[in-house]
Amino acid sequence: MRVLGIETSCDETALAIVKKNDNGEFEVEKHLLASQVLVHSKFGGVVPEVAAREHIASIFPMLDELGIEKDGQGIDAIAVTAGPGLVPALRIGVELGKVLAWVWKKPLIAVNHLEGHIYSVWAHSTPIFPALCLLVSGGHTELILMKDHGDYEIIGMTRDDAAGEAFDKVAKLLDLGYPGGPAIAKLAEQGNPREIDFPRPMIDTDDYDFSFSGLKTAVKREVAEMSQKAQMAERENIAASFQAAVVETLVTKTMRAVEKYQPKSVILSGGVSANQSLRSSLKEILNKQCPEISFHAPELFLTGDNAIMIAIAGIYHAMKNEFIDPLTLVADPNMRLV
Ligand SMILES: Nc1ncnc2c1ncn2[C@@H]1O[C@H](COP(=O)(O)OP(=O)(O)OP(=O)(O)O)[C@@H](O)[C@H]1O
Ligand SMILES: [Mg+2]
Repeated sequence: MRVLGIETSCDETALAIVKKNDNGEFEVEKHLLASQVLVHSKFGGVVPEVAAREHIASIFPMLDELGIEKDGQGIDAIAVTAGPGLVPALRIGVELGKVLAWVWKKPLIAVNHLEGHIYSVWAHSTPIFPALCLLVSGGHTELILMKDHGDYEIIGMTRDDAAGEAFDKVAKLLDLGYPGGPAIAKLAEQGNPREIDFPRPMIDTDDYDFSFSGLKTAVKREVAEMSQKAQMAERENIAASFQAAVVETLVTKTMRAVEKYQPKSVILSGGVSANQSLRSSLKEILNKQCPEISFHAPELFLTGDNAIMIAIAGIYHAMKNEFIDPLTLVADPNMRLV
């Protein structure tokens, strides 16, 4: 089965052709990604209308570049991100998917973007169910128990800011530009993570929820209290101490959920899963405390938004004949996983 994946939920235009081979392995035949990061960095964040315009400008040349026959020959289905995300941005991919499905007479699959992030690890590995997934991205921080393909239970989520959002906001406070995650991680390499004792929000609560807005406020206070000169010198320590607080909170809560739900594998995915400190901390503690549980994180180029993960999630839907009529599909900014 060969599926065309389309992703335009935020600020990356992405197309991919992924084939599921007879031996069950996924083969990425082609994948293209046009990032709009430079365009949005001028505004300090993603501007939905600008994102839509950029998607329109990029997506047709990218489709041409894939070199698919005019009648869609060789493609068995089209998988498109239908939500959640920014409506003007989502619509570009959704409308393209609908038109191609109609003209090529191919089945259409509506993929949830978060499901896509989870499936990014299937590109190179096969987690065993039940799997516990820590999904950490720009808009979401969720602990999800995945009992089978398409069978999800959300056991915890953020009550305010997402982890990626916290990285981006703290980066702004430190004048590091957008997106903030990679910039904080880089600066943190030179800092002392134990220098400032930032709060570990909700780390001891009896649930699996997160909260990062108080941590962001603590950083803001720290920055405000320092002189400008001290801030410049201390930025590395602030970045390192902030990152340590986020990582410890995420890892502690995930391990508590591991204890309760006893999964066979743990999946870390979403844009923040690119963070090396988070990846190595979670992997290390899991290997040490529960060596029988396998750990899966996407390859670095699959941590952010891409169409490979959308195509893979789409293939699992296609295997269950879960298709949607192209005349009824609409972009859903609040699309839910369950
Ligand atoms: N190395 C890193 N460390 C921490 N955060 C990172 C790193 N690399 C990227 N990020 C963060 O990941 C986020 C982007 O992830 P992603 O593209 O999955 O989010 P999104 O698609 O905007 O949101 P969502 O997937 O929730 O709709 C940004 O907030 C970015 O700062
Ligand atoms: Mg994303």
